Amino acid sequence: MTAAERRAAELRRLLNRASHAYYVLDAPDLSDAEYDKLFRELQALEQEHPELRTADSPTQRVGTEPAAQFSKHRHLVPMLSLANAFSDEELSAWEERLARALGHAAVPGGYTTELKIDGAAVSLTYEAGVLSAGVTRGNGSLGETVTANLRTVKDVPLRLTGKGVPPLIEIRGEVYLPFDQFERMNEERVAAGEPVLANPRNAAAGSLRQLDPAQTAKRPLRFFGYSVALPPGTRAPFTSQWELLETLAAWGIPVAPHRRRFDTLAEVHAHAHQVEHKVRGELNFAIDGLVVKADALRVHDEAGDIGGREPRWAIARKFAPDIAQTRLLDIRVNVGRTGTLNPYAVLEPVEIGGTIVKLATLHNEELIRRKDLRVGDLVQVKRAGEVIPQIIAPIPERRTGSEVPWRMPDRCPACDTPVRRDDEEVAIFCPNDACPGRRLEGVVHFASRGTMDIRGLGYERVRLLLDEKLITDVADLYTVTPEQLMGVEGFAKKSAQQLVDSIAASKQKPLSALLFALGIRHVGASAAELLARHFGHMDALAAAGAETIGGVRGIGPTIAEAVAAFFADERNRELVRRLATLGVRMDEPRKTAVTGPLSGKAFVLTGTLPTLSRSEATKLIEAAGGTVAGSVSKKTAALIAGDEAGSKLEKAKELKVEIWDEARLTRECAS
Ligand code: IVH
Repeated sequence: MTAAERRAAELRRLLNRASHAYYVLDAPDLSDAEYDKLFRELQALEQEHPELRTADSPTQRVGTEPAAQFSKHRHLVPMLSLANAFSDEELSAWEERLARALGHAAVPGGYTTELKIDGAAVSLTYEAGVLSAGVTRGNGSLGETVTANLRTVKDVPLRLTGKGVPPLIEIRGEVYLPFDQFERMNEERVAAGEPVLANPRNAAAGSLRQLDPAQTAKRPLRFFGYSVALPPGTRAPFTSQWELLETLAAWGIPVAPHRRRFDTLAEVHAHAHQVEHKVRGELNFAIDGLVVKADALRVHDEAGDIGGREPRWAIARKFAPDIAQTRLLDIRVNVGRTGTLNPYAVLEPVEIGGTIVKLATLHNEELIRRKDLRVGDLVQVKRAGEVIPQIIAPIPERRTGSEVPWRMPDRCPACDTPVRRDDEEVAIFCPNDACPGRRLEGVVHFASRGTMDIRGLGYERVRLLLDEKLITDVADLYTVTPEQLMGVEGFAKKSAQQLVDSIAASKQKPLSALLFALGIRHVGASAAELLARHFGHMDALAAAGAETIGGVRGIGPTIAEAVAAFFADERNRELVRRLATLGVRMDEPRKTAVTGPLSGKAFVLTGTLPTLSRSEATKLIEAAGGTVAGSVSKKTAALIAGDEAGSKLEKAKELKVEIWDEARLTRECAS
């Protein structure tokens, strides 16, 4: 090998590894500048020695030669489609059919479930581990060769790494466009006066079939692999779907998060509901269901397929669509408890995933402008899981000309005070501390779950209490009597007494709840908890200056200054004094130290764990005597990492902190 050859090989290895670390592991190992420097060095080297330009060179990702036409490619094994199940019953019926086809009472080996990515199916051919062709599904047997376009997909490895890569293999999966990139692309299109794209799937499929790969390269497509095809007679290096996915990941292929393995279909049903109603809303890419596959590959061989169209051993458990079209009837403005004016959309009621949606959040004026939303527009609305409905994009092709662009009002809609624009922030404020709109939101927040938790005190009742002048601030709540309430619309003797009782019960809430309830700017539940634990009593916190507060672990300068400013205001100090006089608890009960297997050890959580939520994992750790911190340091005992772990994982590796998965955590807690 010549020195140039050696260097080129080294650069290819470094750059490919860096792309994988960046796009697949989400843990960059090179800075952008370092990457660019190495990339340019390789480009220069290849320019000088064109014979060094190999197919797996990262310089070959951005093709520039426009493909005149896509040539046809015959798939090694046809790319099948999937049958659908729209309910638990249909999924159970599939299991019965499969068991019957196998001649068993049950399906041996259990199930692997995967997210059903809503993108475009492709097949990647690797010869001797090097990407040699990328093909669309086409009609299932014949696809279109779009290799140059697929090379531009940053997380498609140009060369497979690791052990046991077969000489020839086709890796199948889905190309998709993440939501944030899709939105960015549409915003750019609005700015350039081009029509917006309807959804991420169309955007992905369209991008793949661009004749000019340079155009595809502009669209940040991503890839997830989920199956393989081998030449007839070749033995697969795995025996289950689960192992297949693990092997793909080991070879450097991105595999979708939230994959699971179950023994029984009952567990699959429960998981499907969890994914539809919770996980789906947290993902940055579109899914339209869960794919349920018999785990054992032996079962795949035995069960075969139906009419060469769909396998018997897999099915798509489809979810209700989470996107619908409707009319944007109006844009209104709501005043938040800190005074921010929040625009929201009033929609023509539309059903999305089983609920009727009438309102959607719009965040701020800037977002409305970027999306070019106009009152009267037909819009695409998305509601995933528990998440508040959002407008994805208007459909400008359907405009009639009567749609009206929107402007933020100059005056507060609740008190008519001229609004203020903060220079650095996009937010617009009502500066009036006595604004009734702010007050309403403030009392509702004070009473809500997660703060003082006053049962039976929601929006409507708070509005009534304010209108009837029974209260003007949160301290007044503790002076309201059942007799007074009985004079208010909708209250009877029993309901009046119940509300007074639940208000009284809230006096025992710890300082952490009260601090969050007070609605101090930037102080959320976790900052309130840190402050309450550190200072122990309201008086100690009120007496501390910004510097002392900023010294608390986990509290940054923004929060510290906001808290100090709150207590510097005499009106706030007076409010707190009144609350104390009325019997509201001002201290944080000391947590009795738990001794257990994790005593004295600090842990950090990152990514999505397979079964535990973040708060469940925290409780588990605390019950075993450990503590949970927000960031990784040398003192961290272990990082508990789940799917899609990001920079914390990188930091832990750097500091050589132990990394545990959920199973390890559960074991350690139980030992
Ligand atoms: S398996 C023979 N797994 O859904 C097995 N497909 O509606 C066939 N899809 O054509 C595919 N995510 O494009 C499989 N995890 C996943 C998938 C998935 C998305 C797509 C695929 C397929 C379509 C069927």
